[in-house]
Amino acid sequence: MDYQKVLETIYQTIQQQQPTGTVAAYIPELAKVNPDQFGVHLTTIQQEEYGVGDFQKRFSIQSISKVLSLCLAYQLHGTEIWNRVGVEPSGTPFNSLVQLEYDLGIPRNPFMNGGALVICDILLSTFPDAKNAVLDFIRDLADNPNLNYAPAIVASERSTGNRNQALCHFIKSFNNIHNNPEDVLDLYFHLCSIEMSCEELSRTFLFFANNGCKVTDGKEILNPSRTKRLNALMLTCGFYDESGDFAFKVGLPGKSGVGGGIIAIHPEKYSIAVWSPRLNTKGNSQWGMDFLELFTTRTASSIF
Ligand code: DON
Repeated sequence: MDYQKVLETIYQTIQQQQPTGTVAAYIPELAKVNPDQFGVHLTTIQQEEYGVGDFQKRFSIQSISKVLSLCLAYQLHGTEIWNRVGVEPSGTPFNSLVQLEYDLGIPRNPFMNGGALVICDILLSTFPDAKNAVLDFIRDLADNPNLNYAPAIVASERSTGNRNQALCHFIKSFNNIHNNPEDVLDLYFHLCSIEMSCEELSRTFLFFANNGCKVTDGKEILNPSRTKRLNALMLTCGFYDESGDFAFKVGLPGKSGVGGGIIAIHPEKYSIAVWSPRLNTKGNSQWGMDFLELFTTRTASSIF
């Protein structure tokens, strides 16, 4: 398979489309991003790499980091975490509060903002310095000590973070947040602010395609059974109320962020990251979805 040629052909096809969607303006710093940037990077488990467009430019990975924080909590606490957060798709937007009251403060899944806040709470109870511990974990996955939080994004999110504050306090009222909500939100905003390029993202997520082992040094991050479960969660919940659509069109586990990034995993083959900041009405990158639909169709490489 000549992946480089396939990436370039699809890239050109998509670029000929009339751009639709808008950048995530509810976080003021993200509203400043040039919407026309577009990059793709693919890494195979044989460590072959292919890139096109702005694949080395860093962007705010936003909710994509929810997979990595979940992975760390799962690695350390195992199945216990499912007592505090569910594994069902919600069919609601990422920042929705509606189901939480019926569900007594147990978020439907760890990728909704409420679920990610509970995971942050678990990490805060685990580490004396959770912010540094999670960053170290991600740097190790990426084999890259230069990944960082972006203070301007953290401040920007905090300034408009009323919904996340409401979620955190509401969940605490059901005793499913144990720490001070301000500390939980601070960790959450930091995790959303991490900046990575498509190249860095596809390398970092490659262990999900390799039964939970890093390809670079063989280190086991999750055992194969747990890797299966997180891939399943990405497939069923990674795109919120558009998860069905993503499975239908792309057919891979994946995760989006409102910075316009998408990571997708083909178990035992590759991981692929796409970035285009214009979002559709569900908060997922429009060109990212379009690109991946064409990619898995032309390469006949979805999991189905
Ligand atoms: O909390 C928020 O609203 C953002 N920091 C993250 C949301 C997000 O990326 C949802 N993904 N599509």
